[in-house]
Formats: sequence, C-alpha cells, structure tokens
Amino acid sequence: MDTVKNYVEVDQLQPDEFVLFVNGRKIVDKCVDPEMNLLIYIRRKLGLRGSKFSCGEGGCGACTVMLSKYDHQQKKILHHAINACYTPVCSVHGMAITTVEGVGSTTKLHPVQERLAKYHGLQCGFCTPGMVKSMYTLLRNNTLPAVADIEMALVGNLCRCTGYRPILQAFNTFAQNGCCGSPSKCGCAATGSENYNSSLVTGEFAPYNETQEPIFPSELQLNDHFHRKTVFFAGKSVVWIRPTTLAELLKYKCDIPDAILVLGNAEVGFMPKPIGIQRTLISVSHVPEMKQVHLLESSIKLGASITMAGMIDVLNERINELPRVPNRVYQAILDMLYSVGDNQIRNVAGIGSHIMTASPLSDINPLLMVAGVTLNIASHKDGFHTLPMNKDFYTGYRKTILSSDQVLVSLSIPCSKENEYCAGYKVNKYVHRRDKNIDIVSCGMRVLFEWNTDKVEEMSICFSGMGPTIAMATHVSDYIVGRKWNEDLLKDVMQILSEQFPISSQLRMVEYRKTLLQSFFFKFFIKVMNEHCTLKNIVKSPDLRRPSVTMTKKMPFTGTQSYQCVPDLQRKTELVGRPSMNESSFALVTGEAVFMDDTLSEEGELFFAMVTSTHAHANIVSIDTSGATSLDGVICYIGAEDVPGLNSLKSPSSNEPEEEVFASKQVVCYGQCIGGIVAVDPKLASQAAKLVKVQYEDLPHILTIEDAIHANSYHPHDKHISVGNVTSAFDQSDYVIEGEIYLGGQSHYYMETQCCIVKPGENGEITVSATCRNLTMVQRAVADTLAIPINKVTCKTRRLGGAFGGKFEFVTSQAAKCAVAAKRLAKPIRSTLTRDTDMQFIGTRHPVLARYKVGFSKQGILKVLQAKIFLNGGCYTGRSVNVMEQLLATLHNTYNIPVYEIDGILCKTNLPSCTAMRGFGAPQSMGIMETIIDHVTNECGFPSEKVRERNMYDGLSDSLFQDMPDVRNIRRCWIECLKQSDYYNLQKDVDTFNSSFRWKKRGIAITPVKTAIGPLPPHGGALVHIYLDGSVLLSHGGIEMGQGLFTKTKQIASRILGISSDYIHITETSTDKVPNSIQTAASSGTDLFGSAVKNACEILMGRLNPFIKDNPNGTWKEWVNIAYQNRVSLSATGHFNYEGKFGFDCDDPGSSRAMYYFSYGAGCCEVEIDCLTGDHYIRQMNIVIDSGNSLNPALDIGQIEGAFMMGYGYYCLEELRYSPKGELLTKGPGMYKIPWISDTPRRFNVSLLPDAPNEAGVFSARGVGEMTVMIGVSVLMAIKYAVAAARSDEGVRGYFRLDAPSTPEKIRLACIDDICNKI
Ligand SMILES: Cc1cc2nc3c(=O)[nH]c(=O)nc-3n(C[C@H](O)[C@H](O)[C@H](O)COP(=O)(O)OP(=O)(O)OC[C@H]3O[C@@H](n4cnc5c(N)ncnc54)[C@H](O)[C@@H]3O)c2cc1C
Ligand code: FES
Ligand code: FES
Repeated sequence: MDTVKNYVEVDQLQPDEFVLFVNGRKIVDKCVDPEMNLLIYIRRKLGLRGSKFSCGEGGCGACTVMLSKYDHQQKKILHHAINACYTPVCSVHGMAITTVEGVGSTTKLHPVQERLAKYHGLQCGFCTPGMVKSMYTLLRNNTLPAVADIEMALVGNLCRCTGYRPILQAFNTFAQNGCCGSPSKCGCAATGSENYNSSLVTGEFAPYNETQEPIFPSELQLNDHFHRKTVFFAGKSVVWIRPTTLAELLKYKCDIPDAILVLGNAEVGFMPKPIGIQRTLISVSHVPEMKQVHLLESSIKLGASITMAGMIDVLNERINELPRVPNRVYQAILDMLYSVGDNQIRNVAGIGSHIMTASPLSDINPLLMVAGVTLNIASHKDGFHTLPMNKDFYTGYRKTILSSDQVLVSLSIPCSKENEYCAGYKVNKYVHRRDKNIDIVSCGMRVLFEWNTDKVEEMSICFSGMGPTIAMATHVSDYIVGRKWNEDLLKDVMQILSEQFPISSQLRMVEYRKTLLQSFFFKFFIKVMNEHCTLKNIVKSPDLRRPSVTMTKKMPFTGTQSYQCVPDLQRKTELVGRPSMNESSFALVTGEAVFMDDTLSEEGELFFAMVTSTHAHANIVSIDTSGATSLDGVICYIGAEDVPGLNSLKSPSSNEPEEEVFASKQVVCYGQCIGGIVAVDPKLASQAAKLVKVQYEDLPHILTIEDAIHANSYHPHDKHISVGNVTSAFDQSDYVIEGEIYLGGQSHYYMETQCCIVKPGENGEITVSATCRNLTMVQRAVADTLAIPINKVTCKTRRLGGAFGGKFEFVTSQAAKCAVAAKRLAKPIRSTLTRDTDMQFIGTRHPVLARYKVGFSKQGILKVLQAKIFLNGGCYTGRSVNVMEQLLATLHNTYNIPVYEIDGILCKTNLPSCTAMRGFGAPQSMGIMETIIDHVTNECGFPSEKVRERNMYDGLSDSLFQDMPDVRNIRRCWIECLKQSDYYNLQKDVDTFNSSFRWKKRGIAITPVKTAIGPLPPHGGALVHIYLDGSVLLSHGGIEMGQGLFTKTKQIASRILGISSDYIHITETSTDKVPNSIQTAASSGTDLFGSAVKNACEILMGRLNPFIKDNPNGTWKEWVNIAYQNRVSLSATGHFNYEGKFGFDCDDPGSSRAMYYFSYGAGCCEVEIDCLTGDHYIRQMNIVIDSGNSLNPALDIGQIEGAFMMGYGYYCLEELRYSPKGELLTKGPGMYKIPWISDTPRRFNVSLLPDAPNEAGVFSARGVGEMTVMIGVSVLMAIKYAVAAARSDEGVRGYFRLDAPSTPEKIRLACIDDICNKI
C-alpha cells in the first residue's frame, strides 16, 4: 500500500477571510459563520429577500440561485442552479452567485422575467424568483436550449398555483424548437377567429441577447488564489476546513475522526445537530485526485467529488465516443442519474458522497453494485487500497465497511462486454415523475451470457427500498447462473422473488414492493430477450409476444387557451375582458415584491417558535423549560399562564370558544401548541423549543374515520338531507347497488409558510401583519386574547404566497400567541413556521368515507340515492360544519336525482382540526358522485359518458336550488368538451391501443362539474381616494393570494372611472382602512370586493359627473381638480351586500338561496398507465369552463389550470400518512408530493365558454377559482378505464373500487395479473 505524505498540522490553521461575489458585488466577511446556509446569508445578512424560504430541504426550488465559478483547468466559466437553503455559505468561497435581484429589476427586466410576466406565468409569485433563476441559469449555459432541456431545468421548481402551463409556454419561447411567442409575428401565439381568441400574451417582448449579460468577476477569473489554498472558517458551533490536497484531507480525517466530510451537503445538511456541541466539517470539493476523470479503455475512473451533473457529462461524452455494446452499462447509469433529484441536487451532490451516504433508498447504488464497480479508498495510516462495491460493502442502516478515517477517493466503472446487459429501474410513489423522489424501490440488474448462447454466465440483481440497507439478491442470481434465458427461467425467478426475497416488516406497502421485485425482473427479462441475438423468437406466450413493458415516451408539451374577445367598440385602454397581467407581475418576477417574511426586521425584534405536543391525546403533567431558557439568546418561555385575556379562539362554526391558544391541561392532537420560546434568532428559538420537556399522561386517541365509527366519536353536528320517499324509490328501481369509497385528505402546501409579525405600539396598540385571508378574525382573536378593544388592533396583509383555504384559523392562533409575547416583552415578535411545523400544525382537507346505495333504471337513469358520509373533522369542529354542508349541497354534481337521503356525520379524531381547502367539500362530493356514476355504468353496461348525459340537469326544475338560472350551460360545456377533445375518436384510439399492448394501457374519461360560488353571507367593503394629480388609491377588504383579485378590482375601477389603470394604485389590505371584512374565499372575492370597489367608484363618479358635464372635453385631472375646488369629497367607501335570505337549509334545501350562484364546466382526460408499476401520466386534458363574461381571461384560465392540477394532486397523487402516534409523516416535499412540472398534461387545452353572461356577477363575470379542482376527478376515472382494460385482459370484468389518491401502489394492485395473484 502507498503511504500518504505531505500533510499540515490542524492547529496551524487560522480563520480565513470569506470572499463571495453577489450580483457582481464583492463581499468580504471576516467572521462568516460556517453554520449558516447561503439562503440565510443572502436574505438576512445581505438583505436580498428575492430568494425565498419555503421548504428548507431542497425540495421546492424557491431558493434557487445561480452559482458561477471559473474552472482554471478547463479555462471555462461554469454556471449552476443550486438551492441556497442547504448550501453551506462557506462552500461558495471564492465563487460568484447571482440572485433574482441580479437578473433584472422592474426598471430593467431581463427577457426571462419579461416573458414570464407577459405569459402570466405566475399567480402568487412566491415560486417565481426560483423559476426565473432556473431558466436564467439554463440560458447562461445554453442560449438556445431544446424544449426538453427547459422542462428538465425546471423539474426542481415547485409551483402550487399555476399548473405550470404558462411557465412552460413562456420559457419555450427561448427554445430552438419552441414558439417565438410574439403575438404580431407568430402564428401559434395569436391564432383565433374574429371573436374567439387564443393568445393570452400581453404585448411584445424583447429578444434575448446573451451579450448583455453581466460579466463574470475578473478577479475570480484571473487568478485562482481562492482555490489553491486550504481555507478554514470557524463559528460558534461549526468549524469548516477545505483542504486542497489529499494528504491534508486524510490527515484531518485521521486526527478528527468525528469530522464529517461534505460536498453538496444534501445529506449532512439534514443530519440532526445537537445544540452546544461543536462539529467539524471537511469539504472534499478541492482535492485534485477526487475531481479527476480518467477515460480508460475498459473502464471509467471518476473522482469521488465529481457531482452527479459532472458524471452525466462524462457518461454522455463516453457514450458518444464508444460503440453501443461497451456503453450498455454507462447508458443504464446515465438513465438512472437523470432521475436522481433534480438539476439543483445533481449540480452539488457528489457520486462519492452518494455512495458513502449508504442510503437504503439510493437509486444509483444498486446499479453500481451490479455493474462491478471498484472503489479506491485511502486513509492516512494505511494509504490506498481498492474494494469491490459488492454485497459486503453496506453493513447496515447507513453504514459501510469503511472505518472513520477512510476516504473514498475514486470509483472505477467497467464497460460492458459483448454478451452483457444492464438496466436500472426505479419506482417511487409518483413514478411517472421518477426524478426527485427517494421513496420506494430501485434496482439494478446485469446479466452476462456465455459466448453466443442463451446460457447465463453471470447474473447480479440488487434492490434498494426493501430493508435497512441495499440488498443483493444473491440466491436468485445463483439460481439463474448456468440456466437458459427462457420462459421457464422467468417463471421460476418470479416465484423465487415472490416467495424468498426478504422485505423488512417495518416497511409499508409490502405487497406492492413484492410485485415490484417481479415486475422489474419481468421488464429486464423482456429487455434482454429483445436485445440478445440468440433469444429472438424464443417465447411462446402471447403476453410476452406483445410485451412493450415501457410506457410510451411523453410527447413535448403543448397547450391552447381560448376565450371570447371583447367587443370591437371597447376602448383600447379599457382592460375589462382582456387578458391583462397581474398588477404585481414585474415586482414578482424581479423579487421586489415583498412577502410577509421579506419585511426587514425592526430594532429589537424577537422570534417566537412553538413548543408542540408529541402526543395525540394526553393530559399535560408538567412542563420543564429550564433546558431551553438557560441557553444564551433565549429570552423566555410563553405559555397559557401568560395570556391576559381569553385563552381560547372562537369556533367559526359556533362562535363559541373552542381551540386553546396555548394548551393548558390537555392536548388533543399531535403538533398542538403548548407554549413558545422567544429568542433573539429564529433558529435558536426553534432549537430551544425542542428542549422544552413536557411530561404527558396518555389518553386513548383516535386517528381514522373507521376508528371514530368504532368508538362512536363524533362532533355533535350531523346533517341530514332528505327529499322524496326513499323506500318506494328503491322498490321502483330496476337495479340497486351498494358501495363504499374513501378519499384521503390533502395538504394545502402553499409555497409561503404561515408567518406573522406583531408590533406593540403606544397606548396599548398592537399592529399585526399576518399571512391571513380573514384579517377581521385575526383582529378579534388578538383583542380577545389580550383583553383589549378591537380598535387597538390593526391587522394588515399585502399579499399571500398562496393560501388555498389554509390561511384562516391557524395563523389567527399564531398571531394570538405572538401578541401575548409582544405584550409581555414590549417587543416586536416574528414567527415564521418551518415547512414541517406548518404541515403538522395546519389541518388538511377533510378525509371522507362514503357508504352509498343507489337505485337506477335499465337505462342508467338515477332514481334514488341514499348515502352516509363520514368526514374526519379532526380534534375541533372548526370549519367542518360548513364543509359538511357544502359537501351535501354539491353531492349530486350536475345530476338530477329525484329522491335522496343523505346523512353527513362529523367524526371527532385526534388529528389537527381539518379545515377549509379549495373547493370546500365539493372535491369530496364529486369524488363520491363520479364513483357512484362509474359503479352504475358498470352495472347497466352503457358507456359512462352516456350515463352522465342521461342524468344531467336539463332545466332549473331539476335542481335542488333556486339559484341555477344558467343550468343549461352545463350541457353546453359538456358538448363543447366532447367536441374539443374529439372524444369519440380518441376513445377508439384508446381501445385500439389497449388491444395492442398488454402491460401498458390507456384510459379516457369526461366528467362535468357544477360548483357553488360564495356559500357565505356575501358582503364586502372598499375605500377609494382620488388625489389632485388624478391618481387613485384603492383599498378593499379582500386579500390578494395569487388569484388576481387586485388586478381585477383595478380593472373594475378603471372601467367605472373611465381612466387607464396606470392611474390606479392598490394598497395593502388593512383593518384600519376597510373594517369588518369577511374572508376572501369560495371564488367570491371579485364578486364581493370588486362590487364594493364598483360601488365606491360609482359614488365618486356621481360626484364628478356634474363637472364632466360642464366641461366634456376636459381631462380627468382637470375634472378632479375642479371638483376639489368646489369642496367635493374625493374619497368614498363602497359596500356590497347580497340582500335576501341566504344559507343552505338542510331541512328544506329549496327554501333559501344556498349559494351566490353556480359555475359550470367539463373536463376530458386521457391517461396512460404502466400496469407493472402503477405509473401513469396524463396525455391530454381538455377543459371547458363557463366563466361568464370573463373579466380577465388570462387570470381566469390561470386559475382553471392551477385548480385542475391541485385536483389532480388530490385525486391521484398526494397522500397524507400519519404514524400510529398521530404524527404527520408526509411533512415536506420529499415525502408529500404535489404535482411537478412533468405532471403537466402533455396536451393541455382550456377554453372559456363563449356567450355565457352571468347576471349575478360583476360585469357578468363568474368566479372560477375553485371549480376545476373537481375536474381532477376525470383523471381518476380515466385511470380506472385503463385499469379496467388491464383487468379485462385477465378475464376480470365489472366494477372495482379505486380510492383516492390513486397512488401507483393502488393502480398496480388493481391491475390484476399473475404477479398480483401470487401475492
Ligand atoms: C431534495 C433531494 C432529492 C433527492 N432525490 C434523490 C433521488 O431521487 N434519488 C436518490 O437516490 N437520492 C436522492 N437524494 C439523495 C442524494 O442523492 C444524496 O443526498 C446526495 O447524493 C448526497 O450528496 P452530497 O454530496 O450532497 O452529500 P454530503 O451531504 O455532502 O455528504 C454525504 C455523506 O457522504 C460522506 N462523504 C462525502 N464524501 C466522502 C468521501 N469522499 N469519502 C467518504 N465519505 C464521504 C460524508 O461524510 C457524509 O456523511 C435527494 C436528496 C435531496 C436533498
Ligand atoms: S426552500 Fe430551498 S428548496 Fe425549498
Ligand atoms: S405562483 Fe407559483 S407558487 Fe404561487
């Protein structure tokens, strides 16, 4: 063994100066804290708030920045998109970063920003700076990317609002094969007929000119002194060493065995960090031997510090050079690498660290193990040696055979031999988005045949996701060696895998994992059979003869949007009805828009972190805060005893005190707030909160609906609706069937977590800034908690980074807690929830279980429905009663059911109180109803679209409600959707496809939707001032959360005042301007607050009109000034109130106006599924929506697309899981998967129904913010169609149950076949 020489002594190190270029400015920091990540550094230390904190775990891309460095060897500037939230600030020493502020500003937009804004590629805008950065970085590396490159570049960026379509279309204008997007030049951007338009683009935009980009700092390019020398940074709890020779590295690792090696920090960054113990991080980024690449004749040697992105480049280069055969293994690894994480992860994560992390869920390691990789190891004491990466390498959970002083220097990957084949397969919860998910199973397989025979010489199979460590299936390989590759072998191996491969009993989904073992082998068997020359035509089974075990390659994304043009006579400057941009677009794309946590800290501001319950139901025996309060920087603990007023918040259902601000004696759910720690730093506050010791006395707890039914645990708010005589209706029905369906909950997953800032003022005043959509509620709760009058409390919000129903009660209680701390300490208090606390603390959409009995005719016409619907309400009643009412009121969707009896029962469990979420009960009701229709369809044998049509409302007389004057628009949307999707031809194509393929199937479904707008007592207020320069200041009680309310209210004011909206400024919502507002919810914001603005503007015009009449040729400014001189008030409040009896009366459904009005639509979906894995993707989605006379088609279509994607997530993707103790396990984006950019339907077409004015809406418009959530059910139904086709190949026909979300596990197990039958 060689001995490693030339090390330096550890104690010789002196802290270095940290140097970083940010947006071209040199930052020199003499006391950088190595514990800090780059995001905190740029946001807090440098005050650049454009990059957002959202998940803090590398899963969302909101914090994306561009890292640029000069490679002195290659003499090249390299640009990488990285996530700042886990990048240690010290790791970017001597490099340059560009944040969104460095890309462009509102005065000088970058083309990426301009196009994103003009294509309406943002709503709340919280994800927008990250999107801009990812696209910008791509362009800096490749000025003419392909469309596929763009989608790949954005995989790491989540958006909960837009549905991604406009983002893709905006950025595809940069692509070599994309649309130029210019309305005046481009056919596809501006097609349409005379009064029907399909371009939403707002104006022309500048060409992209890469020569205009800022230049890389010359200091970094001209010399490499930042990189040549070993650097050392020391902070209170972390020491950072970055050696530049292997010898140094090995010596440090020998001297400090506990030191942690780090490259990308994608693992180390998330390791638990004990408080008060200093740890040493040694960066392996600058050791030359660990960065080298050697392309040898029969192998590739890669330095361990090569990133995954670097490895992709190397493999691509190698594959282009070598003929196909030796590359088989490289191609397999390359394919798998593309599916690991996303660009941001791959740009920093090292292949060596990936191997050494020893994750039992790794995607790459199983492939490396079967590929025969050897590892080159070194240590200070023992020098170098090599080690095969075989079954002995991983010794246990996250353990390898290496000792603590050994370092992985490089790895060698041999190329494939002539008769050798290799492949990797990966399935995770959301398999079709194979990237960025480490949840379920991966495998690597390799076979070598004896020369020119079908006899196996070598075989390796390796799986991850089956136990605490990666496992090689050696007994299977041994069995295969020496045998012929034929159907007998396949049969035997499938049997062995199903019976003998050990799967840890600790894991979930054991059955599904078992099917995957076999499915993967089956896929590999087919692949080898197709590729190995001697195996062609050996199989006899018809199923193997039409194999195609891979899904059809996704086609490039396309989408159309169409809407009705405004009348020719409309003034050009008048924006009502035109697709105008979100009024904050430019501020959002540049990162200048200020979200709650972006506001700069005030002098003396302190931070509050919650102490939360770790038991689902228990008495609190004692609370010991000493471990937390003794920490330096911790100010105090705040608990129930500190509350000066009422320690309870009023229930929105009963207005009675219900949830405690701080739990005093008992906790009723995991995550409930018991108290809080106030500290000088947010991180310290959260760490200290975890040190508060609470002793509990456990009480029995209930988590599920089934358990609640069993324990008879209900909230006392059951609802009952009954129309007609159920018994005789069943007697008169040709068929009667019964069934059950369960739909899980859904997390809001808004990108901006809850935040509030409370400032005490003089005379007991309190100002609260909160991420809340009901400021009046916050104001009342704070006043009650502090026992002060409401007039002392002012609540404000400028904008929310998404809400979707989740920003009601919970931020109210957070504000009340912070107010208690602010009052006690007389200091401003800030509290921003981390993603996991937010997800644990905030209740979800209500899970629901429905048991139904339905009677119908031979023609499939519904006669009677009887159902018992159980909602999981969680620990408090909260909003559940309203959700239940809405669910019952919308259950029949668009179908005329003459007789029914429905019971709604609210289960009391120990989950956080379930709450409002986009659709408010209707997504559950439509999931239930469409399942019932599917069941009926299967029984009566008619096509599902015929059954839906036959039952659809034809006229008002069919309806349960008084308020559906436009009920015929349901059928109009339906017919239009059938036409636009070319439904009948598409269905034929789907059926032809299904008869040609056994292991992949397609499905199609069309579903109608009807939804209620404004199931609230509707009223709203506004305040409008006109100033002497003619400018107008608008405020109202509504909250802007990405839905475009501010933009629409500006449009309304502009029409009434007859001025361009450039004159109008809209300001934050605040209770001291417009008091006593109701919540902005239920798609009714524009109806309520827009109408109030309209009213205020009409009042003002009434005052100005005499002066306009006197001087008709005057200007706006002149009229304003003459009115002022005549002592006319130029300020007016406006109010809107729906007069009349309002509310849903379950006892007499038709008696009152239940909703403000209804909106209608239809959606048609085509999917493809992989029957072997349960994977699926949407091939095509057509949506037709009645939006009345749309006020702003761009915003409406944006809402429609975003809501659809949220609904798709609800019905098919997003799964909440709890531990038996009631802890939410699916807390961050790593575990809880909202739709990703690659989930966007490949063809996504949306159109607004023309000639459909809505008498009840402002300027005849209709609210559409929520309804397409329910169109997501069409995907579930299309998946069922595809599964039914797979079952039918096995001779299994008839109805089957598929609960939501239809995860790959459920889809796979529903596709009955031999593999499933064996399990
Ligand atoms: C958002 C996200 C998504 C992800 N998605 C996937 C996915 O889809 N599939 C998948 O398989 N994985 C995934 N991962 C895991 C990811 O691949 C690993 O976290 C990553 O490879 C770690 O690389 P790193 O350089 O950041 O490791 P670091 O955190 O820097 O280091 C990890 C470990 O390696 C050790 N180490 C580093 N270098 C050496 C060396 N030379 N010798 C000895 N020990 C060393 C360190 O001591 C440390 O313990 C994901 C991770 C994140 C955060
Ligand atoms: S905040 Fe960094 S990836 Fe989500
Ligand atoms: S616009 Fe993307 S998260 Fe709101």
